[in-house]
This record gives sequence, structure tokens and C-alpha cells, in this order.
Amino acid sequence: MIIQKIGIIGAGQMGNGIAHVMALAGYDVVLNDVSQEALDNAIVAIEKNLARQVSKEKITSDAMSTAMARITSTLTLADVGKTDLVIEAATERETVKQAIFDELLPHLQPHTILTSNTSSISITRLASRTDRPERFMGFHFMNPVPVMQLVELIRGIATDQDTYAACHAVVERLGKTAASAEDFPAFIVNRILMPMINEAVYTLYEGVGSVQSIDLSMKLGANHPMGPLELADFIGLDTCLAIMNVLHDGLADTKYRPCPLLTKYVEAGWLGRKTQRGFYDYR
Ligand code: CAA
Repeated sequence: MIIQKIGIIGAGQMGNGIAHVMALAGYDVVLNDVSQEALDNAIVAIEKNLARQVSKEKITSDAMSTAMARITSTLTLADVGKTDLVIEAATERETVKQAIFDELLPHLQPHTILTSNTSSISITRLASRTDRPERFMGFHFMNPVPVMQLVELIRGIATDQDTYAACHAVVERLGKTAASAEDFPAFIVNRILMPMINEAVYTLYEGVGSVQSIDLSMKLGANHPMGPLELADFIGLDTCLAIMNVLHDGLADTKYRPCPLLTKYVEAGWLGRKTQRGFYDYR
């Protein structure tokens, strides 16, 4: 199956990164969000990130303008239906994703593959509520999308081989590497990464170390590019909490209980970089 036009729902950090790499790889992109401000901010972010690649001589300025010209933004979800592959990258809440699929389904072409960039929600359950469980799967990028090499591909119980092969081919055209994960809570990356971040928050909560010493320890002691608390701020503390809740509920093991301090920060609206305050103060 030939994929040429890609619909992306959600123009936030992940959605605009996905639009960026898809357009650069030669796909036509239809980027959708619920507010014009979100779309405008996404276009600015994509331009800035492409310009950074031009200044580092990773791409030419011609490639940048061609990529920008391939991106159309729209507030109308129906426009996304006229594509070959849809990647939903909205907020990590199942009710939100469900409402989007319900509105989108009547507009989808029969051949369109529907995917979610969810970092933890059951692909099988999301798929079961659509009209195409065999053409539904998880397409999970890492943040920052233009830099990170991995894409996790997750098959739901009903995903067919043609769908998997088509998504795998897209990952290859992006020049990225696919890892195949089975559909269990949080898949592979977040099954391992989030408990580490949660444990770092417990380490802070229990007074074992300060924010700085915890991050320094993991950067210099384990060669991580970012400390776990800095990384949590980068990912978004609400996303980290949502993933821990999926692990806790889905695997019913107390080892996945979210740290109360993580919950408190989220309740305070201290969500990390995106709200200018998390474990660090960015104001
Ligand atoms: N677009 C394009 N290029 C970007 C970019 C972006 N958004 N962000 C960074 N870059 C480029 C920079 O231009 C730079 O390029 P060069 O190597 O050519 O110089 C390179 O990436 C490194 O960036 P910086 O020099 O600005 O900063 P850095 O060296 O501190 O690296 C980082 C930044 C790449 C984010 C690095 O800190 C890192 O790898 N951090 C860990 C990120 C990570 O773990 N991500 C996964 C999160 S988990 C996830 O996403 C799954 C989930 O579901 C929650």
C-alpha cells in the first residue's frame, strides 16, 4: 500500500515533531488541532527546529522550504480523513482520544490506516472501538521527535500484517529505526523509563537527594543525557503521572504506584517545561 498523505491530530510537542519529520521525508502532511493558536505555535516551532537543522548543515534551506510547503494546517477533523495514514497525537487521555476517533471515523477513507502515538494506552482497546481494528496500531515517537532515532510500533490483537508493514516502511523512509512491542501497558520504553523517573521522584520525596544531586548522579553516574527529574519536566509531569497510572492499573502491582509528590506537582499545575515550572523553575 502506498502512503503519501499523512494526517496528524494534535499539534503539540509530539504532533509538531511528527509533522516536521514526515514533511522532511517527503510526505504531504495535514496537521489538525482544536485551536488556531495551537496550529500557529506548531508552525513556528517546526520552522524554528528546521532552521536549527539548516544552521547545523544537516539539511539545506531548499529542503526546509519544501518541507514547510508540504504542511497544511486545519481546524477541521474531516480534512484529516482524506489521508492514507492518520497519527493521533492528542493529549494522553483515553476519553479525549476516543472522542477524536468517534468524530473522525465517518470521514475516514476505507483504506486509511489509523494509528495512535499513545505512550501507554491499550492499542487493542482503542482499536476495538473503531471500524477498522485490523488497520489500527500504535505508532509511538520519542521526544524530541526530530532527534530521537526510535519509533515503537505496537500491534493490537487484530492488527494485520499489511498495516504493520506499511507503518514499518514509513519509519524506514524517515531514516528512523522501529522496535516492535507487544500491546501491554506502556509497551517497552515507558515500561522501563517511567518507573525509573517515578523512583527518582521517590528519592526526592524521601529526602535521599536534592533535585540537583539526583540529576547529577544519573547524568555522571549512569551516562544519561538528562537527569530523570529534568527529563520528567521535559516530557511533562502530567504525562508521566498518566503513564504511571496506566502501569499501576493495568499490571495491578504496587511497584508501579505513582509517587505522591508527582501527583502533588500535577495537582498544582506544575507540569514541567510547558508550564515553566516543575522540578525546576524555568521562569
Ligand atoms: N529539533 C531539531 N533538532 C533538535 C531539537 C529539535 N526539537 N532538539 C535538539 N535538537 C538537536 C540540536 O540541534 C543538536 O544537534 P547537533 O547534535 O547537531 O548539535 C542535538 O539535537 C542536541 O541538542 P542540544 O545541543 O541543544 O542539547 P543536548 O545536547 O543537551 O541534547 C537532547 C538535547 C537531544 C534533548 C538530549 O538531552 C537528550 O537526548 N535527552 C533525552 C531525551 C529522551 O530521553 N527522550 C525520550 C523521552 S521519553 C519519550 O519521548 C517517550 C514518551 O512516551 C514519554
